[in-house]
Amino acid sequence: MLDLFADAEPWHEPLAPGALILRRFALACAPELMHDIGQVAALSPFRQMVTPGGYTMSVAMTNCGALGWTTDARGYLYSPLDPLTHAHWPPMPQAFAQLCQAAATAAGYPDFQPDACLINRYGIGAKLSLHQDKDEADLRAPIVSVSLGLPAVFQFGGLHRNDPLQRLLLEHGDVVVWGGPSRLFYHGIQPLKAGHHPLTGDCRYNLTFRQAANNE
Ligand code: SIN
Ligand code: FE2
Repeated sequence: MLDLFADAEPWHEPLAPGALILRRFALACAPELMHDIGQVAALSPFRQMVTPGGYTMSVAMTNCGALGWTTDARGYLYSPLDPLTHAHWPPMPQAFAQLCQAAATAAGYPDFQPDACLINRYGIGAKLSLHQDKDEADLRAPIVSVSLGLPAVFQFGGLHRNDPLQRLLLEHGDVVVWGGPSRLFYHGIQPLKAGHHPLTGDCRYNLTFRQAANNE
């Protein structure tokens, strides 16, 4: 199929107050990001975490940066150590930090300093139920989310679980940034449809950058 957008410059798409999609923003650096994901996963492997309610998540996860998001029987938490390896999470690769800085600045959050990056891997059928990102200490910092590989339908709602949902297809290289008034908006990913992507095979990867600690 002819891809009319193959050579296009990234473009901005408003999503909600404080939120926007930077279409194809990460396209050029995607191969480097994928290489770095491999390096991180060699030290802290992807694993399917179990929620406090005993549910095994369909998405496989790992982290890099000073803090990593995990679950255990007590709840959701940010930890400096990988509970699987008992070592620190791998450091944030430079290409990750640079892309995140550029995207946050383009979205109007030039001071964003992420200390955590959650790496999600979706196989066919994997999904992420509607949730808020609210385990971070300082909710003034935005979330920067990078999509790689197979496309997925992103749901973006409001402050309440029952608020109407926008459904947007996130494709390879798209970056979503949400903060300010939409920082606590509910969001999720619908089950991944089967497909093949030249860079990621039958998977979708997602990087979400967060400022997890309180810097004050
Ligand atoms: C997330 O909400 O942590 C991930 C969203 C996504 O995979 O696009
Ligand atoms: Fe999230």
